[in-house]
Amino acid sequence: MSQSTTIYPGEVFADTQVFDTGIRQLVPHYDLMLDTLTACVPKEARRLLDLGCGTGELSYKLLKHCPDAQLVAVDYSPRMIEKAIAKLEEAQLSDRVTFIPGDFGTWANGEMKEEIGTNFDACVSSLAIHHLTDEMKYKLLICIRKNLVEGGCFWNADPILQESPQLQEIYSKLREQWTINQGTTIQNVRSNIGNSQPQGHSGQDRLATLETHLTMLSSAGFKTVANPWRFFGLAIFGGWS
Ligand SMILES: C[S@@+](CC[C@H](N)C(=O)[O-])C[C@H]1O[C@@H](n2cnc3c(N)ncnc32)[C@H](O)[C@@H]1O
Repeated sequence: MSQSTTIYPGEVFADTQVFDTGIRQLVPHYDLMLDTLTACVPKEARRLLDLGCGTGELSYKLLKHCPDAQLVAVDYSPRMIEKAIAKLEEAQLSDRVTFIPGDFGTWANGEMKEEIGTNFDACVSSLAIHHLTDEMKYKLLICIRKNLVEGGCFWNADPILQESPQLQEIYSKLREQWTINQGTTIQNVRSNIGNSQPQGHSGQDRLATLETHLTMLSSAGFKTVANPWRFFGLAIFGGWS
């Protein structure tokens, strides 16, 4: 596989099989970030929605954390869903998951053919929504809020636009060092990255500042908004409906 392999935005690697290893080398504190997001979801939650489930890493953590929950996992990439199904089957968690192949932007526009359902106790997403334009992010937030129970929560772990070039530079150096600490180099990891072309509602990274995200959440009707975790250009943000 090489850089010339065309992939969907968010699939990251040309070969889906290297995603779970590669993402941990590329994204600093990937597991900490997902574990922190998971901890923000009440253990008693029964209905969960994961937008952009990818290979099922966050879905897996959530199903373990919420023993009584059923989870709906949405992703537009058949390759990523295939990997997630295999992972959750192997972990004997697949009977608690419904996979929906589709674009969450289409859902936000009310044009999704498949039924995602409603009355979720929690909706989550990691490393996926930043591929939407801000206009679509906002529409998606409105749709998510509408489909949460009263008092339900939404948490998104996603790259954010940093407030200054200085911070951006510090973060770039830390990312390189992070990759070296994982026993490889940023060049090696990047050589496995695919050539992503716009697909559906997603395009190249469209980052917004944390402040913009929190403002959009409030405008979309979330009663309390919060930012439980941040590491330079990565953050968890969301709130309660
Ligand atoms: C970087 S992966 C993250 C996967 C997983 N959440 C994780 O943290 O490991 C982003 C995922 O979002 C999916 N994705 C991106 N845009 C999407 C969209 N508009 N609708 C559905 N899935 C999308 C990609 O196919 C990919 O599987």
